[in-house]
Amino acid sequence: EKGSYRHFMLKEIYEQPQAVQRTLEDRLAADHVLPAAFGPDASTLFAKVKKIQIVACGTSYHAGMVARYWLEGLTNTPCQVEVASEFRYRHVAVQPDTLFVTISQSGETADTLAALRHRQDNAYLASLTICNVGTSSLVRESDLALLTRAGPEIGVASTKAFSTQLVGLLLLTLAIGRARHTLAPAQEREIVDALRTLSAKLNDALAISATIEAKAQLFAEKNHALFLGRGEQFPVALEGALKLKEISYIHAEAYPAGELKHGPLALVDSDMPVVTVAPNNALLEKLKSNLQEVSARGGQLLVFADREAHLSEDEQTQVVNMPSIHPVLAPILYTIPLQLLSYYVAVLKGTDVDQPRNLAKSVTVE
Ligand code: F6R
Repeated sequence: EKGSYRHFMLKEIYEQPQAVQRTLEDRLAADHVLPAAFGPDASTLFAKVKKIQIVACGTSYHAGMVARYWLEGLTNTPCQVEVASEFRYRHVAVQPDTLFVTISQSGETADTLAALRHRQDNAYLASLTICNVGTSSLVRESDLALLTRAGPEIGVASTKAFSTQLVGLLLLTLAIGRARHTLAPAQEREIVDALRTLSAKLNDALAISATIEAKAQLFAEKNHALFLGRGEQFPVALEGALKLKEISYIHAEAYPAGELKHGPLALVDSDMPVVTVAPNNALLEKLKSNLQEVSARGGQLLVFADREAHLSEDEQTQVVNMPSIHPVLAPILYTIPLQLLSYYVAVLKGTDVDQPRNLAKSVTVE
């Protein structure tokens, strides 16, 4: 039931702090992730992993893209990510000791399931799924599984499933790094500590929802929007654009901010609002110069930035200050304002938020 919420999507956005907390429960020791969370022999198996192949669709694919930055950046484990509808129909050159990972809310998505079923079975070390439904086909047919504990997701646009998938994938990253001895123990402990405060941070992000609701006005009359991010915030930008498309029917595209000059800058004018996620990391300075390029062309900017970044507002630039967070966890936190933004834009436009036209919750046929 929706309770006091106007839509399931809004309720599910607000459930994220608890859903993330549940997904972490019993899975953390003082300074590391308990590998048994993935299955009894997971740590022996993880020690053998040399490469990771992630396969998923839609929002779950975006979670996989974030995981690639984590797996390669934190644990030096080569990782590839592909949409299932492409992966399943092409010849894949599989390297030895590759772990095959699927990500899915439903566990029944036709393309993802087909990718698992028709992969060159003995070419892979093992299969693992990060999934929200314990009784699903993906969980039954994978060697290892980590259940996200988001609870039932009713809104067609995925929200709490995504943030809990990210948590699951970060747990996987830490477990792999530990088993392969490629993650420094101090960094491991730091991230585990940060994970314990994640739920509170998500609550802080939800607390700025009235500010975000006010920004929705910027988009209500627009037909297009551009989303920019760098590094692990690029997939967050992709996810923000997908949410806006799905529920408000505004054409939205996401680009890695560094690609602007290579084409999309030609689209920027006062009718093309540009949304940017700008946490306080090593790429902030580069991002700032990308933002200059947009405002010089008359583009309206909406920037979600770490309050420590001290970005200033001007006529064309609106800044929403975000709580500070450990940089590794930033993609999870910055997802929240983008979900809220697309929700409030859709409400302004009067679309059917929970059941957008032409879409089904679970895509069990091709
Ligand atoms: C977008 C959305 C879809 C799903 C995709 C995969 O909001 O919900 O893009 O993410 O259909 O579904 P699952 O995760 O069930 O495999």
